[in-house]
Amino acid sequence: MLDLKIEGATVIDGTGRPGSRTDVGVRDEAIAAVGDLSREPAGTVLNATGRVLAPGFIDMHSHSDWRLWGNRRAESKIRQGVTTEVVGNCGFSPAPVSAEFADEMRTFALYIPKGMDFSWRSVGEYLRAFDQDGTALNVVQLVGHGTLRLAAMGFARRPPTSGELSAMQRMLGDAMNEGAWGVSTGLIYAPGSYSTTDEIVAVARAAARYRGVYASHIRGEGATLLDAVREAIQVGREASMPVQISHIKAAGRPYWGKVADALALIDAARAEGLDVMADVYPYTASSTSLRTALPDWALEGGVSAMLKRLHDPGECQRIRDDMARGGGYSIVERMGWGNVMIAWCPKRKDAEGRRISEIAEARKLDPLDAVFELLRDADGVASMILFQLDEKDFVRAVTHPHVMIGSDGSSLAVTGEMAAGKPHPRSYGTFPRVLGRYARDERVLSLAEAVHKMTGLPARRLALRDRGEIRVGAKADLVVFDARRIADQATFEDPHRYPVGVEQVLVNGRFVIKDGEHTGSLPGKVLMPA
Ligand code: CU
Ligand code: ZN
Repeated sequence: MLDLKIEGATVIDGTGRPGSRTDVGVRDEAIAAVGDLSREPAGTVLNATGRVLAPGFIDMHSHSDWRLWGNRRAESKIRQGVTTEVVGNCGFSPAPVSAEFADEMRTFALYIPKGMDFSWRSVGEYLRAFDQDGTALNVVQLVGHGTLRLAAMGFARRPPTSGELSAMQRMLGDAMNEGAWGVSTGLIYAPGSYSTTDEIVAVARAAARYRGVYASHIRGEGATLLDAVREAIQVGREASMPVQISHIKAAGRPYWGKVADALALIDAARAEGLDVMADVYPYTASSTSLRTALPDWALEGGVSAMLKRLHDPGECQRIRDDMARGGGYSIVERMGWGNVMIAWCPKRKDAEGRRISEIAEARKLDPLDAVFELLRDADGVASMILFQLDEKDFVRAVTHPHVMIGSDGSSLAVTGEMAAGKPHPRSYGTFPRVLGRYARDERVLSLAEAVHKMTGLPARRLALRDRGEIRVGAKADLVVFDARRIADQATFEDPHRYPVGVEQVLVNGRFVIKDGEHTGSLPGKVLMPA
């Protein structure tokens, strides 16, 4: 006897093969039968005629570890059909934490939800604390190299001592034993940006020993994109581990088109036998913390040291001079301040949704002074959206056979605390946008290919053996959607909107979305590597 039978759907199984009409049976947490199940008895029968049934989507690049504590229902992701989120990306995870640098950790985090009290030290303690209250979807945790570095040596802008390096290696090795899947870097962000390639290789080896992946927000995504891709590949080669290049892009108009060259480097590395892949999100704007606009040395010593510099006119001038020479994130050189929008700034809500150029004009300030003022007023807590990408680069990336989908967003919700500001719409729209706009409407890839990039391919990337495909024995993470109707609704102006067309979502055999509504069920788990 099956617990659930889903009848009549076009099943796209996640392997990349085209869909076919068949039935799928679920017992407990797993898929128990696939085929003609018309004579099989089942506790619940769901007729999905005219709908697509696919494996639940795996968000290869998420930052939900900073949100799920206060948003266990994972609304904005689960309503896209996401059933597993890979978190701990861009060099920053909430653990491990050292007693010595716990305060630096707290001030560095942009948003700290209720429950996230940094009472843990190790990643194992962290994961157990998180798992206690349950969550709607599954979580795959990476360990941030920036977090490791912060725990070992704070915001020091120098190479680690041998003691600090072995502390990082030991914490990462312990984390791998306790449920982490790999290590991530954020090499444009202090303190990760203070590290050399040799340091990264040495630290990453501690994850390679446990067959972990190396996921990298690489050292440059504009002028230095190709060198940065080469560095990521070098880490994979020297540490003998798979490489995931996060949110591949060419940032800034002068560099548009370079995604093709970056993909060629990935192809060459793969031809050499290295396991290199990438992920991408379907938008022409990126988003990050506002302080990333500054040169990374401005963060030496942490956020309080940065704020002190911003109160010192001489230091502000140094920052300005460095940026004029191309230092820092060089947004002006890339796109101009009219292409930078404040997404979220709890202490300067007036700025949310507005361009830096507008804010500067209203305050009768030069744009960079307006940025300094915002950072001072907000104690450094603000994020921005940068309209600096080319859609053609996205299409190049998404059609590459080794590029998958990662939102770079977080689990948010349209009500309560999660609905603050004007965050990047990717947190609400990524997966339906790929399926609706890019697969169905613009036909840049087939529906089965698009589904594969959200299911089977990320599962293979992670060596996640029992998810990402519809087959007997796999875990019953499933999504039923209407391929004619599926679409994102979130925009940059109005981001807090759920997509349409996602009708049923099951996690570990239990409905979280039933007929388009959240059931409140929390069947997700912290996944452990095999
Ligand atoms: Cu990221
Ligand atoms: Zn990133």
